[in-house]
Amino acid sequence: MSSSRQARLGRLLAAVAELLAGQANPDERLLRQIAALLKAAAPELQIGPAQFPIAQPGQELLYELALDPTGGPSLYLVSDGAGTHSPPHTHQTWAVVLGLRGVELNQLYRLAGDSGGRLQAAATEQAVGPGECLVMQAEDIHATRVQGESCYHLHLYGRALSHLPPFAARCFDWPSSLPNVAQMHR
Ligand SMILES: [Fe+2]
Repeated sequence: MSSSRQARLGRLLAAVAELLAGQANPDERLLRQIAALLKAAAPELQIGPAQFPIAQPGQELLYELALDPTGGPSLYLVSDGAGTHSPPHTHQTWAVVLGLRGVELNQLYRLAGDSGGRLQAAATEQAVGPGECLVMQAEDIHATRVQGESCYHLHLYGRALSHLPPFAARCFDWPSSLPNVAQMHR
């Protein structure tokens, strides 16, 4: 990775740490400030297919851009290929997602009050295209699907993925009473 990109990434993570001031669970207002930092830094990172190949249809790629050595806030580039989707899941840490290329549709869920682990759709689907941000708190649940061409999205998580439970352990079953958004639009 180029030294100028690494330097920019280092400054970004330092600025995020300064804003957080040790908070593990920032509120939405603070997450929006972090999103603004990420958006301001993104053009200088010069993310392009020469260094980071774009996913082919059906392929999902994850590039580690900046990892906190102690497992704190870390930045990844995700390239999801056309036709890919993820089941409802939590991150168990805060997350800020910034679109760079392509559009990813996010369905947000909440657990039903009487629980039993059932999910209810929490809002209309939110599209995250170039320059658009999605912020999520640790307990938020979402499912994603790529709309159209393969995507690039920056994912900034409150903790490094290596310090979180495996993805499969953070997933929920598709709620049978709700449309499976990934299949519905294929
Ligand atoms: Fe996610």
